[in-house]
Amino acid sequence: MTKQTGFKDNFLWGGAVAANQVEGAYDVDGKGLSVQDVTPDGAMGRITDGPTEDNLKLQAIDFYHHYKEDIALFAEMGYKVFRTSIAWSRIFPNGDDEEPNEAGLQFYDDVFDECLKYGIEPLVTLSHYETPLHLSEKYDGWKDRRMIGFFEKYARTVFNRYKDKVKYWLTFNEINSVLHMPFISGGIKTPKEELSDQELYQAVHHELVASASVTKIAHEINPEFQVGCMVLAMPTYPISSDPEDVLAAKDAENTNYAFTDIHVRGQYPGHLLRFFAENDIAIQFAEGDAALLKNHTVDFISFSYYMSVAAAAHPENYSSGAGNVIGGIENPHLEKSEWGWAIDPVGLRIVLNDFYDRYQVPLFIVENGLGAKDQLIQNENGQYTVEDDYRIDYMQQHLAQAKEAVKDGVDLMGYTAWGCIDLVSASTAQMSKRYGFIYVDRNDDGSGSFNRYKKKSFNWYKKVIETNGKNL
Ligand code: BG6
Repeated sequence: MTKQTGFKDNFLWGGAVAANQVEGAYDVDGKGLSVQDVTPDGAMGRITDGPTEDNLKLQAIDFYHHYKEDIALFAEMGYKVFRTSIAWSRIFPNGDDEEPNEAGLQFYDDVFDECLKYGIEPLVTLSHYETPLHLSEKYDGWKDRRMIGFFEKYARTVFNRYKDKVKYWLTFNEINSVLHMPFISGGIKTPKEELSDQELYQAVHHELVASASVTKIAHEINPEFQVGCMVLAMPTYPISSDPEDVLAAKDAENTNYAFTDIHVRGQYPGHLLRFFAENDIAIQFAEGDAALLKNHTVDFISFSYYMSVAAAAHPENYSSGAGNVIGGIENPHLEKSEWGWAIDPVGLRIVLNDFYDRYQVPLFIVENGLGAKDQLIQNENGQYTVEDDYRIDYMQQHLAQAKEAVKDGVDLMGYTAWGCIDLVSASTAQMSKRYGFIYVDRNDDGSGSFNRYKKKSFNWYKKVIETNGKNL
């Protein structure tokens, strides 16, 4: 038995984005509308009747027309992997169409070919907060069981098309977020306040069955495919050592773990069944659902990690913090980002250990990073750049903790830094909340040249990859 002393040799270093946050070209080459095209204020804001000029995502950073330049920059940093999503509405503009849109399929052929040219493996999310709008309007999104069939057809289409180009797939981005933002995450148009728990958990069930079903389809099409689930990880600490607070933290974590429990163990956990029983929730299982969940579990778990929260038996006695989707109580021991997100590198080590102890399957950190305001400056050579030491610090500390987890025995496949190129924020739909190693000249009012500039963190990350994270 050898002790792991650092990241494995074939560690998948890279960056991550989502189609709706970078591509733009929202109505180009036959693309249909998605839920993102009617949410100009971000994940929990207004829903407009149609696309509006103030919606930055319509043009985003125009990756659609800049992908060659951007992927060349990723290659220069030494990426081994690039995570992006396929915009479902580029492939099936309405979601329930008979035939796929060839121009949409061709676009992703071009993107994946460009990656492969540099030896970069695409890691592809099938559904990243971009349900076709028509499916939301006609079926109320994942509330309707027919969504499973539409999703299977879409997945089968892209699996077949890219079977020799893409090996790594994720089903639903942050699948657990549907409990908190049903429209953006699940295309459910009924306002959250009007949705019963019965309806919400039935929608969750549909997504979980769809996830298992496309995992099955993926393995049938290419047994080499590696399919992962993707969850929003958020370690929840008890605010005190009072056992009631500890239990409250455990309850909160269990709600999150339910999604990985089902994806990895293939069945609903006891605590969730108890919650259903005590709240008169009766999930409708169609014939075959239980077997699908049981027999088609994922190959690995992927997750986003930005912050941790605290929990208490009496949360009303504490102030709640700004959260990434899932709120929580503020932890007095942690600093916060400009957007109020608690900064907690050790939490990453904790969550990696927790996942691995619980499931013993490979893990992949597919999102992590710091959303911050950047100042574009000119250096002594007249080149534009950003001195983003704060971002370097953040990532250095998180990667150091990821390495500690590897030393603890965790099987970690890779790390893709979120928003490796500046993009439109999901929660607030701002450009000014920047994550990238590459600055994109576009502002919150939509103005800008769309030029790309390397930040200081660009060369830092390049070095991290070059040395396989040896000197963190
Ligand atoms: C995750 C999402 O929740 O967090 C991404 O998967 C998102 O789409 C990221 O961009 C960071 O959140 P935000 O709101 O800062 O963009």
